[in-house]
Amino acid sequence: MPHRELYSLLDELTRIAALPLERGETLPARAYTSEDFYRLEREHIFRADWLCAGHVDQVARPGDYLRTDVLGEPLVITRDEDGDLHALSRVCRHRFMDVLPPETTPEQGSLKRLTCPYHTWTYRLNGEYAGQLAGAPLMGKVDFDRAACRLPRYRLEVWNGLIMICADPEAPALGPQLDELTAKLAPYRLADLVVAYTAGWEDIPANWKVGLENGSENYHHMGSHAATLEPVLPGRDTVVDECDGRWFTMYTPFAADAVAEMGTTEEAAEEGAPGVIGTLIPGLGERELSGMTIAGVFPHLAMALLPDSVTFLRQIPTGPGTHDAHFTVLVPAEVRDKPGFDAYVDAARQQLETIQSEDLVAIRGVQRGLATDPGPSGGRFSHLERPLWQFQRYLADRIVEHMPSATP
Ligand code: FES
Ligand SMILES: [Fe+2]
Repeated sequence: MPHRELYSLLDELTRIAALPLERGETLPARAYTSEDFYRLEREHIFRADWLCAGHVDQVARPGDYLRTDVLGEPLVITRDEDGDLHALSRVCRHRFMDVLPPETTPEQGSLKRLTCPYHTWTYRLNGEYAGQLAGAPLMGKVDFDRAACRLPRYRLEVWNGLIMICADPEAPALGPQLDELTAKLAPYRLADLVVAYTAGWEDIPANWKVGLENGSENYHHMGSHAATLEPVLPGRDTVVDECDGRWFTMYTPFAADAVAEMGTTEEAAEEGAPGVIGTLIPGLGERELSGMTIAGVFPHLAMALLPDSVTFLRQIPTGPGTHDAHFTVLVPAEVRDKPGFDAYVDAARQQLETIQSEDLVAIRGVQRGLATDPGPSGGRFSHLERPLWQFQRYLADRIVEHMPSATP
């Protein structure tokens, strides 16, 4: 894209981000297809803001590790002997091999030291030494500074049990930006839940924002999920909270006739009725038991909080027109030891796959629309799409604000 076109796209983003929701418009189509715009997003969002890498349960014990590629770079989350978590690059400092290659190592596991499988350089994992070179065989005959050799380390914060990482040393801490959201989500006690299963879809042929936007509104229940979600969680009944800034919430009550059919959620849980197939999260109030909350944290985290489970979804961009989608499903800890756990996981996974296949029809279809030439423009939002409108402000804030000037 010529320089001029990129700047006109940024001008358009600035204009759209200043509109009130009542006159809100879709982003320019080029924001979903342009290589240059994607590069700006990588630099000012994915390499500069807080991203979600997983849940603490995935690295529960000292020595545990979790492989993640959330920054477009191979990373590993480790828990050291003192229980502290670290986010380290997996790129070996010798000749840059992935120290935990997916070809030969599981995504999660346990280790004492990190040993690169190529020439067996080893790295420490403890405390301030995390990432420090511990040993490099046959390097004594060359001039080599071992002390200066360490795997790059990233900032890590645990928020509500979620492992959040950031590549920018200057970025403000995340926790204080989310205080109000933390209070709202408190009844679900996210940090005490455990991972029931994960599911991923790779190389979805759509820009990451198409996935994000799809996951940030329930308006499409009546279309995409007409036969699945809509009868239980009607999109039209959704109340979108008037949030500002980097997070949003909305609430959809269970449909009255679906509840009547299911009985109370308590009974439903006991009988394994459809809708609520798992065990209830202990301590939830009437509101949490009566519907679904969707919460999002820009740039790429969305959560569906239900009486029996919390599913979080992350989009990981892999190019301007492709992304991976990762789902992690959390349940109360005691569920994992129950005899019906495997059957629960099978049923829940099947449900997720059905819903995701419905979402993918829209996600793929929207990208095909955006990729037409000339790109379509001026799509209008319903009040239920407030989070998409809010996301445009986040995007403009991050990208346009960092540019020297939007009109050269
Ligand atoms: S690349 Fe890691 S030891 Fe050689
Ligand atoms: Fe959907």
